[in-house]
Amino acid sequence: MDIKILKPLGAEISGLDLNILSEDDSLKIRQCFLDNSVLIFRNQKLNPSQLKNISSLWGKPLVHPVFKGIEGYPEIIEIRNYGEQYHTNAHWHSDVTFEESPPDATLLYSLVVPEEGGDTLFSNQYLAYDDLDHDLKSELSEKKAIHSNIGVLMLSGGDLKDAKTVEHPIFREHPETGKKALYVTEAFVKKIKDLDPKESQQKLEFLYSHASQEKYIYRHKWSKGDLIVWDNRSVQHFAEHGYGDNERTMHRLTTSGSKPY
Ligand SMILES: [Fe+2]
Repeated sequence: MDIKILKPLGAEISGLDLNILSEDDSLKIRQCFLDNSVLIFRNQKLNPSQLKNISSLWGKPLVHPVFKGIEGYPEIIEIRNYGEQYHTNAHWHSDVTFEESPPDATLLYSLVVPEEGGDTLFSNQYLAYDDLDHDLKSELSEKKAIHSNIGVLMLSGGDLKDAKTVEHPIFREHPETGKKALYVTEAFVKKIKDLDPKESQQKLEFLYSHASQEKYIYRHKWSKGDLIVWDNRSVQHFAEHGYGDNERTMHRLTTSGSKPY
């Protein structure tokens, strides 16, 4: 197994077939994931059953609360090109933060990739947290952000009766690394609890633009057969469109998480 460490986050792992992993390989992969937050495996051949099987390295596969899974595999969502106007992932977010216990990891496996466009960007939220000034860190350290699923329900044509909110800390401690990360997602956060609306909005706008600076970002150009696994506890991601009507098909799966603290 060859590991190439990327900057400012991520590691590319090659020379490995994920369908034949030794105990030692699994341990190395787990550690590399915690150290680098995003893993890129090239040239993998994974049918839905194999993808689900590999996901157990990161936890129990979850069924998405809104989007329906593929035949026989409710945990695996097929992401396809429904046209740019219906593209819902071109914003910075960590996955499904409107749940009490959002998924720890997301696995995204490419089946068909366009020649151009469709890059995924990942932003290192440990670094984003570290760089915040001391006063802002102490001011927001005990504050909670209110996350809502309403945007996803509206986009997916879901029942608005299912709308709900949850509260998560603005700075999240990673339960396995012990490091702190910035944890506000433009897609799902509505406001900072206990701040007046104007101040909440100003603070959030600052945090969003801070979190997505170029210096924290790794940009991935996909090839067919890439599997990427990212850590939703320390990373935000952004899915660019820019592939017109060309085909782009991915399988996506998330694994169980815990309540952020
Ligand atoms: Fe996502």
